[in-house]
Amino acid sequence: MDTMLASRASPDPEKLQGFVGRMLDDLGGAMVVPLVRIGDELGLYAALDGASPITPAELARSTGANERLLREWLSAHAAAGYLDYAPNTGRFTMTPEQAMVFARPDSPAFMLGAFEIAAANVLDHSQVMRAFRQQDGRGAGYGTRCACLFSGIARFFRPGYAAHLLNEWLPALDGMEERLRRGARVADLGCGHGASVILMAEAFPASYFTGLDYHAASIACAREAAGRAGVAGNTSFQVAGAADFAPGGYDLVACFDALHDMGDPVGVARRIRDALRSDGTFMAVEPKAGNRLEENINPVGRLYYAASTMICTPVSLDQPGAAALGAQAGPARLEALLREAGFSRVRIATETPFNTVLEAQP
Ligand SMILES: C[S@@+](CC[C@H](N)C(=O)[O-])C[C@H]1O[C@@H](n2cnc3c(N)ncnc32)[C@H](O)[C@@H]1O
Repeated sequence: MDTMLASRASPDPEKLQGFVGRMLDDLGGAMVVPLVRIGDELGLYAALDGASPITPAELARSTGANERLLREWLSAHAAAGYLDYAPNTGRFTMTPEQAMVFARPDSPAFMLGAFEIAAANVLDHSQVMRAFRQQDGRGAGYGTRCACLFSGIARFFRPGYAAHLLNEWLPALDGMEERLRRGARVADLGCGHGASVILMAEAFPASYFTGLDYHAASIACAREAAGRAGVAGNTSFQVAGAADFAPGGYDLVACFDALHDMGDPVGVARRIRDALRSDGTFMAVEPKAGNRLEENINPVGRLYYAASTMICTPVSLDQPGAAALGAQAGPARLEALLREAGFSRVRIATETPFNTVLEAQP
């Protein structure tokens, strides 16, 4: 109590100024989230990408949106540094870098999915609040969330998979690339909209890929996407909880950003070990983290802890086991979990700034 009063009595004016400035920046970012979603839904970013410097009236003509609101939207984007503005002409431009973030789904820097997730964190407030208040002794299940969470996750993660999965992650697994080339059986547990399944199925036509997820709407999207991508022939998708995952003589089982969401990750890892061939591999792609909170006090840790508070942890708390690993469990905890599940060889196969890829063998 004394300490609280002492710190209340003596704020450092310079530190306060710096901190308020930082809040201004953070709040500006938070306030712009719905604007980005509007731009996404109306196709404004696609219209701006590659266009000549444009006025609000011209953008209104090409998109059919309200000119006055577009003027405000464009001005907010200029103030945020999300678009460039030329005061002498009153025209707005999208630079190639801005286009990579906002307008090009195949760019490794595409981030509209992250804005959908940020919106979902606000929209799903009441479900998560119930979990905080322990109103019904549950978490906040994945299936109860707003639709933009599911599409946001799919769009946010896909660019990272497209950039790393085929070129770095699979080659980092002992002998796996060659096995996939020859023809292997693969399961992707917690596959969501199936981005990782589709990328692998396109690259390895001799292999067969099964995507499983307990969220029926995501599986429906995955099936559609696989059909559009022309890989329906070597993929299948099933609505199934990880607890129902059955032995299948798999060469590879993968979990992409899903193991820590599960209620009983040790039990699931045990099932995966039993589902593998004796020389098979479990690849767990998990969010990058250090082993202690102090190692995660950085921009990536900040994003992941926030998502973990609103999404991963309440989703796990809602499932039998309620392990609630969180998105920043760290490699030591994950490795221990995999050994507890009976894997004898466990190692970090590779890492990116956002992901750790663990390889586990029976
Ligand atoms: C963060 S999302 C990742 C989705 C996908 N792997 C991707 O990277 O885009 C986590 C996924 O795990 C699924 N999931 C969570 N718990 C599950 C469980 N017990 N059984 C099956 N799927 C589960 C969710 O439905 C969700 O699709």
